[in-house]
Amino acid sequence: MRVTISRKAHFNAAHRLYRKDWTSEQNDAVFGKCNNPNFHGHNYELTASVTGAIDPETGFVMDAKILADIIKKEVEDAFDHKNLNLDVPEFENLNPTAENIAVVIWNKLRMHIESEFDLEVVLYETPRNFVSYKGL
Ligand code: NI
Repeated sequence: MRVTISRKAHFNAAHRLYRKDWTSEQNDAVFGKCNNPNFHGHNYELTASVTGAIDPETGFVMDAKILADIIKKEVEDAFDHKNLNLDVPEFENLNPTAENIAVVIWNKLRMHIESEFDLEVVLYETPRNFVSYKGL
């Protein structure tokens, strides 16, 4: 029997999508308004889900407070009110698309979660655009 617990989190962050090695015409063609040189912001909504067996002693898959603390430290404290391109080292040479942000978040959370558990992150960049990653 495997059960999933989920925790929601939120952060506001700015980004710009572009490649330094492309011309501005190429960047405009592929990234459109997201290539705005002065950056733009999103209200990101994250759901992190941990799946595993229920510990018979505690009745928990994982203590929700521990999961909340990991997300606060690794995601909210690291990304909230930041410019992802300029302030967050992971995106120094990685385009901060929703896809790449989800993978970076997954990797940061995975370090703190025992290998017997599965982890999935779902990241909403807008209310209608979201990506998910399970490490596969
Ligand atoms: Ni954007």
